[in-house]
Amino acid sequence: MTKIVIQKKIKNFNKIIGVDSDKSLSIRSLLIGSQSYGKCTIKNLSKSGDVISAIEGLKNLGVKIKFIDKHCYVYGMGLNGFDYKKNITVNAGNSGTFARLLLGLLAHSPYEVKITGDNSLSKRDFLRIMTPLEEFGARFKKENNNGLPLKIIGSEFLKPINYNEEKGSAQCKSSVILAALNTPGKTIIKAKKSRNHTELFLNFLKLPIKINKKKKYDIIEIIGRKQFKSFEYFVPGDVSSSAFFIVLTLLSENSKLKIKNVNINPSRIGFIKIINKMGGKIKFTNKRNICGEIVADISVKSQKKFKSINCPIGLNSNAIDEFLIIFLLAAKASGVSRFRKLEELNKKESPRLKLASKILRKMGVKIRSDKGSIDIFGNPNLIIKKQILINNYRKDHRIFMTSVIASLCFGGKWIIEDVESHKSSFPSFLRILGEIGYKFR
Ligand code: S3P
Repeated sequence: MTKIVIQKKIKNFNKIIGVDSDKSLSIRSLLIGSQSYGKCTIKNLSKSGDVISAIEGLKNLGVKIKFIDKHCYVYGMGLNGFDYKKNITVNAGNSGTFARLLLGLLAHSPYEVKITGDNSLSKRDFLRIMTPLEEFGARFKKENNNGLPLKIIGSEFLKPINYNEEKGSAQCKSSVILAALNTPGKTIIKAKKSRNHTELFLNFLKLPIKINKKKKYDIIEIIGRKQFKSFEYFVPGDVSSSAFFIVLTLLSENSKLKIKNVNINPSRIGFIKIINKMGGKIKFTNKRNICGEIVADISVKSQKKFKSINCPIGLNSNAIDEFLIIFLLAAKASGVSRFRKLEELNKKESPRLKLASKILRKMGVKIRSDKGSIDIFGNPNLIIKKQILINNYRKDHRIFMTSVIASLCFGGKWIIEDVESHKSSFPSFLRILGEIGYKFR
């Protein structure tokens, strides 16, 4: 176990940075590439732990993946073209996205495949994808309630389904979309709004997917079993990783930051809408479309005052990975901020809502928290003077990075364990903090 000790706030900075590539898009490009015919070129693939788990997992399933210079090459073998022996195990590491989306592609697998994960992933809920995949015709053998390990036994005779996705989970929606690719006929999904990268990816490849957008949900239709050719794809910067630096800049003194080439897909920037509602100003410039996704540079400056927010629940899914960092802004706002219906937050790499409540209390912030909700009593003069220990957080990367940002903005002496955790999504996090001027001992 490695730990980091931080006991100084960050000094003012004025910098231009880039963040690591988007994790969701990196994993999707590998999975979808594996189903194409031929050699895909993926540029700027993330080197995060979760993406490495996806590469290793796909290699286990017989997919050739190579790195030459800066590019990743995936040699697709067509729909359901995985080539593997009986009794194979795929270790998804910490990645819920890889495990759940891969299971969609394995709905048609000829042999049993066992999926395992690290401690944190093993505790997460897989019933949410077993249920629709069973409807397609796949079967499961559970070894640990609804978590991992589990075994999937695919079926040659998959049938299309009508699926109602009610959690606002992009992983559930995407798992079903990928299963539909391997299934003859038309699968129809009614999905509560969530990140739409898989849909945009299939659109980019001109695959038969139709999306009918309603106010609160989308109707998605996919016609399966259409083979497709290999492709070239560029992965832009990760907006969820940018969120840590955006909030760091907002809460620091006399600082300015520009983050280049970030994916600003509207279904990912709920947190920017929340920041705007709290009075924060963030600018997008140089907007352009790359491989069907919107990319821009993000500019942000320090600010002294923030308003509290009664956060609209319609933003929950689009800001799901950023609530921890948003809570820091709420801690500094004037007034009480209220966040509701966030039960899903306790189903992430750690029970994030519970742990956030604990950390905010340690910071001296008054909160009131219930199952899925939290009220944060902001204090515009918040300064921390005591020692804070962050440990036992299931090595959740976002808890680690949020704690580091809190220490750099509010002061105190922070001892944060399990430093390696941040590498599962954002391996350059500490290096970039160094670039903008923080000297770690
Ligand atoms: C993701 C979807 C979200 C998110 C996760 C990545 C994806 O999970 O929290 O980090 O790439 O589809 P849920 O679908 O469980 O909300």
